[in-house]
Amino acid sequence: MKYSRPASVMRSLVGGLARFAYTECHFQVADAEEEWNVSDEFDLIHGRALMSCFNDPRVILRHTFKAVKPGCYLEIQDNFFPLQFAGPTPTKSALYKWSEIVASGGAKSERPWTNLQHYKRWMEEIGFQDVVKMGFYTPTGPWAKGEYYKLIERYFNANLRFGFPAASWKVMGALG
Ligand SMILES: C[S@@+](CC[C@H](N)C(=O)[O-])C[C@H]1O[C@@H](n2cnc3c(N)ncnc32)[C@H](O)[C@@H]1O
Repeated sequence: MKYSRPASVMRSLVGGLARFAYTECHFQVADAEEEWNVSDEFDLIHGRALMSCFNDPRVILRHTFKAVKPGCYLEIQDNFFPLQFAGPTPTKSALYKWSEIVASGGAKSERPWTNLQHYKRWMEEIGFQDVVKMGFYTPTGPWAKGEYYKLIERYFNANLRFGFPAASWKVMGALG
């Protein structure tokens, strides 16, 4: 496999966002777990919502380390799993139960969804410098204060409605 253009990596990693990309981008569909055959090529590699995608995310981090130019950037945005909550953990809620079940299913299928906690350490072990971890929260209901968080909540719930079945069936199936 050969990645020939910066946007090819974005195509692999950004996936669902590709339809919004600028026309001067070039896309290539490839398996990011395979060798990338690029070296010191990219100013920025961005990945989002990939926690359930790879057998071993460290393989991807190693590929990105080789592919990004010295002094340039890797940015990964992903979700904490099982879900964390801004207030007291609502252990009786359906969302909490879903999150626990899916996390168990991911572990059982040997593709844990809980790797975000390791990313910073893994990046540093691989050789990335000045690794910064930033946390954001996503409201799940219209109780959120302020227009910004209310908008985020609407997007998040739209995503959940479409994404829950797709995200759940396989990993829940692993639990038998
Ligand atoms: C949950 S979606 C996230 C999409 C996008 N990054 C976003 O935030 O909207 C995961 C994406 O990773 C892609 N993907 C999964 N495994 C992959 C692999 N081994 N190589 C390349 N892309 C992969 C999927 O095709 C999908 O587009």
